[in-house]
Amino acid sequence: MRIRFVTTNPGKIEEARARLGPRGVDVRPHAARPTELQADTLEEVARHKAESVRGRAPAPYFVEDAGLFVDALGGFPGVYSRHAFDTIGCRGILRLLAGVPARRRAARFRAVIAYADRGGRLHLFEGTVKGRITARPRGGNGFGFDPIFEPHGLDRTFAELGTAEKGQASHRGRALDALAKHLAVKGRV
Ligand code: IMP
Repeated sequence: MRIRFVTTNPGKIEEARARLGPRGVDVRPHAARPTELQADTLEEVARHKAESVRGRAPAPYFVEDAGLFVDALGGFPGVYSRHAFDTIGCRGILRLLAGVPARRRAARFRAVIAYADRGGRLHLFEGTVKGRITARPRGGNGFGFDPIFEPHGLDRTFAELGTAEKGQASHRGRALDALAKHLAVKGRV
């Protein structure tokens, strides 16, 4: 089946294609700009983004909202991740954690997909990955906070992984897996 991913982030498109392509889902980018609500949860933001492109993006389509939650910062940047990345960036997060030892640098990435089916009904899918914030940026792949996030069980950051490897370990990969499972159950693929 063909499905539109409404995003302007080429990194997210690449990850979705790598994860869903082999399962028979043809992911096509769609550049309609969703409006981004400032809300307390990724779920609310994702739902609102999906509603905001209704009628402008051909169904079935999905949008996604993701964020990095750092324990030692009370969950910041969380739902403010985009703004934090555009302003203070990876270096700013590292500065905020200056002097914090490795065992207190726990963080997690979360992603929420809002999928609008052919009939326009919304379905939410979530993925989380736990890990830690590194002492310095490492790696040149991926995007956003990838160079400073090391998932549990790996001694490499997301930016040191290839797209397929990141997909196996990442929040987005897990949310995409949940979407793929839903589509398979519905007999769409
Ligand atoms: P968005 O609003 O879902 O695009 O994500 C908010 C911000 O979180 C982005 O600007 C990225 O900097 C960051 N982000 C989201 N997903 C990832 C990821 O998989 N790796 C690294 N950073 C990410």
